[in-house]
Amino acid sequence: MTIDLARFRAETLGVQNVAHFNNAGSALPPNAVVEAQISHLQLEAAIGGYEAANQESARVAAVYDSVARLINAKSQEIAVVENATVAWDMAFYALKFEPGDRILTAEAEYAANYVAYLQVAKRTGAVVEVIPSASTGETSPDALAAMMDDRVKLVSITHVPTNGGLVNPASEIGRIAKRHAALYLLDACQSVGQMPVDVAEIQCDMLSATGRKYLRGPRGVGFLYVRESLIPTMEPPIVDHFAANWTGLDSYELRPDARRFENWENNYAAKLGLGAAVDYALDIGMDAIWDRVRVLADDLRRRLRETNGITVQDIGQEQGGIVTFSSDHEDSADIKQRLASQGINISVSGPSSTLIDSTRRNLPPICRASVHYYNDEAEIDRLMAALRG
Ligand SMILES: Cc1ncc(COP(=O)(O)O)c(C=O)c1O
Repeated sequence: MTIDLARFRAETLGVQNVAHFNNAGSALPPNAVVEAQISHLQLEAAIGGYEAANQESARVAAVYDSVARLINAKSQEIAVVENATVAWDMAFYALKFEPGDRILTAEAEYAANYVAYLQVAKRTGAVVEVIPSASTGETSPDALAAMMDDRVKLVSITHVPTNGGLVNPASEIGRIAKRHAALYLLDACQSVGQMPVDVAEIQCDMLSATGRKYLRGPRGVGFLYVRESLIPTMEPPIVDHFAANWTGLDSYELRPDARRFENWENNYAAKLGLGAAVDYALDIGMDAIWDRVRVLADDLRRRLRETNGITVQDIGQEQGGIVTFSSDHEDSADIKQRLASQGINISVSGPSSTLIDSTRRNLPPICRASVHYYNDEAEIDRLMAALRG
């Protein structure tokens, strides 16, 4: 499967300025995403914010359809919120834990999620346990299967960790969670927009994602998926008069759909930008995007491995677009700064973002060069030349 690289680069303003390998931080948006936001901001300025939202209500509703289509869900299973963390927290904190309930998570779990497990464990007496990784680095389905019992309330993992290259076997984990009737929460913040993600295939009950990373959408917007049959059982940790109807002096009724996890005020321009980003990705096709991301990432990893003094820090049987490495000769922060001065964007991932994995592997702060389909081979040449320099 090939993609029309020339077209996608022509439709991305930022590629004229930078070689952008910080797609796992915040990708360069296509022009359509920027235009969707600007035109809505202009409409708000021209006729008023509430009036603009009314006028565009059909387009706003279509954002939910697009997001649902992207992950093979139903529109009523989607909430659009500020970011992936809010999405994840709204689901996680809506779950009820009893003393002794087990929360099983992965070694490469993201810091924001892990501190929430610790807080809930402290409050409720639930226990957090880490599923061992396979020797190849990804979360081991066999190890998970061996840990399952009827005290496992939640299996909660990150699909594509923030560093380390790997793709966790989300579907195999889903099958095991379902077999034991445990709830399954998937942090898909780095996978949505990078690869096909299908909630029915994965069998997750809840999934969180963000706009600005591999989806190439705006900052400050993300979404939550909650399986329809689960929604009525979940009381959001915070509610307002959008999430719930004030039905009597001492009563309220939660919305029946996943938008019970939203609140009244929101950034309509960002929401429409998210819809434009999803439509753009769907138009290209997630299989084609994923193929191209892997070709570029594999090429970059191979070239880094051939470079003296560079250690590729990626693990996992299946690997995606996040390429991490360190140098024997230069701190990662210095490398990042040196590359930035040459118009090449990478990021640095510190040990505390995935503390269990980084402690186990004794990782220093590592460079993260995250590729996307709109990157080209010439940019990878530039990155390699700058690293050798
Ligand atoms: C794996 C993972 N989960 C969650 C997040 C948080 O996403 P957001 O900043 O949109 O809340 C990140 C951000 O880097 C991430 O890498």
